[in-house]
Amino acid sequence: QPRRLFTLLVPLFLLAAITPAPAAQVTIKFSHVVATDTPKGQAALYFKRLVEQKSKGTIRVEVYPNASLYSDHEAIEALSLNVLQMAAPAFAKFTRFVPELQLFDLPFLFENTRHLHRVLDGNVGRALLRSVSKRGLVGLGFWDNGFKQLTANRPLVYPADAAGLKFRIMNSMVLARQFRALGAQPEVLPFAEVYGALQHKTIDGQENTLSNIYSKKFFEVQKDLSLTNHGYLGYLVVTNQLFWNQLTDRQKEIITSSLQEATAYIRGRAAELNRQSLKAIRFSGKTRIHDLTPEQRHAWQTRLRKIYPEFYDTIGRRLIEDTVAAEQ
Ligand code: LMR
Repeated sequence: QPRRLFTLLVPLFLLAAITPAPAAQVTIKFSHVVATDTPKGQAALYFKRLVEQKSKGTIRVEVYPNASLYSDHEAIEALSLNVLQMAAPAFAKFTRFVPELQLFDLPFLFENTRHLHRVLDGNVGRALLRSVSKRGLVGLGFWDNGFKQLTANRPLVYPADAAGLKFRIMNSMVLARQFRALGAQPEVLPFAEVYGALQHKTIDGQENTLSNIYSKKFFEVQKDLSLTNHGYLGYLVVTNQLFWNQLTDRQKEIITSSLQEATAYIRGRAAELNRQSLKAIRFSGKTRIHDLTPEQRHAWQTRLRKIYPEFYDTIGRRLIEDTVAAEQ
């Protein structure tokens, strides 16, 4: 009988060896803190659709917007424990782990979006993507939001207008220094607490993109909005190495290509989403909007660009100078 069993089992083993194992079901939890109708909210949903389509549902992406799962700070911790697989925090949120990412917080660093994209797609961008690997993360790409504006309960038209006010910032030494250079006081707060702090006047103002100011209703609790475009807000899309290393090449390819497509998509849409938000804020009539003259904008630039040399050590002089030079 053993011989008979042998002849029966061998073909079964052979069959098992040549039949590919069914692709394991993979779930990606993706946490972010903004509303769905914003550049990051839209990019995350676009990415989810592509991944699920290309993988025929074998890779699922669960998107958690509005800090419903984690704050950005918690998300970075959760990623390193692999209880979270993806997030796209603003660069400033990495300050404690990868201080060179504060490059993007330097005020008036980019002349325009073309300049920004040239930097992100070039050597500086590649170096920064790699920089998070020392923290057990994998940098997958950069998503745009746009340029930041200032809000307060008084018109901020010249730099001196901000003196004495308390502004909420993300946890970044550069952003703290920026407000100190204006004679103002910075206060670190998670994004989800900004509205309440403005409403209860524990802070006087904040900086953010128009899509964030609109979707989180900051304009309802701020009398003045100045179109300063003084700094850039963008995101580093990350996963963790534990999760990444267990994926097959095909799964990695699906995720990488979907991410590239989502990046291209949001590059073409982010500015429009911010424009729509400005229109909606204007239409609400709840806040005064101040456009700056070239002379007023120049005054902010001159005051704020002075802080760059103080960050040659933390960010790297070369990185800053290469970024500035990429404008040409
Ligand atoms: C903020 O905290 O202001 C931003 O990081 C929010 C975001 O993700 O756009």
